[in-house]
Amino acid sequence: MSNPWNEYVLPRMTDRLLRTPTVGRYRQEVASSLSGDIVEIGFGSGLNVPYYPAAVTGITAIEPSQTARRLAVERVETAGVSVEFLGVDGQDLPIASGTMDGALSTFTLCTIPDAAQALDEIFRVLKPGGQFAFLEHGVCPDSRVRKWQNRLNPLQRRTAGGCNLNRSIDHLIESAGFSTVWMRNTQMPGPAFASPWGYLYLGVSTKPE
Ligand SMILES: C[S@@+](CC[C@H](N)C(=O)[O-])C[C@H]1O[C@@H](n2cnc3c(N)ncnc32)[C@H](O)[C@@H]1O
Repeated sequence: MSNPWNEYVLPRMTDRLLRTPTVGRYRQEVASSLSGDIVEIGFGSGLNVPYYPAAVTGITAIEPSQTARRLAVERVETAGVSVEFLGVDGQDLPIASGTMDGALSTFTLCTIPDAAQALDEIFRVLKPGGQFAFLEHGVCPDSRVRKWQNRLNPLQRRTAGGCNLNRSIDHLIESAGFSTVWMRNTQMPGPAFASPWGYLYLGVSTKPE
């Protein structure tokens, strides 16, 4: 987050683009089964806050962007649950092992440089049986879309803060040792040219007991 585009412009764009009613429904779907103390990596401007269910008792927010944190202030202050900003890197969580009831990542595994390391960290801090809820965009099985994802990826990485279009989200999550509770894929509604950005992975995984 060193250049002005990444620090000042992207968080505002993200806050606008990822605030649609459709995305809100996806956020609600994945967050609804969370309970207890949650770590959210890539907290951004706090767009998930309204979707946390009442069973969530505390949120530990991991977010490197100061602009995103400022954009989150109102949502955090009006949240029905305490939100504590603790760290800046999902790859290195300042949280003791086996202490969290759940974790949430939305549109963040695409951007974290080493997503496998971030997932290892989430796995580490969860209690056995803890849930990891996710809503991510990633690689599309349709070869025509995937071809464009691979073509556009270098440009996407340069212009969107390191975001990748073509990560295998399901394989990354499985490789970290999680068991899938449920997962589904969907293409975000929109024009065909936007397909490379809109292939979604939604679900909940659990750290085995
Ligand atoms: C596309 S935004 C999504 C924000 C939010 N999760 C949402 O759904 O609206 C990606 C977020 O990941 C954050 N991020 C980037 N690198 C990160 C890292 N290494 N650890 C944690 N978060 C990171 C960015 O600052 C940004 O807020």
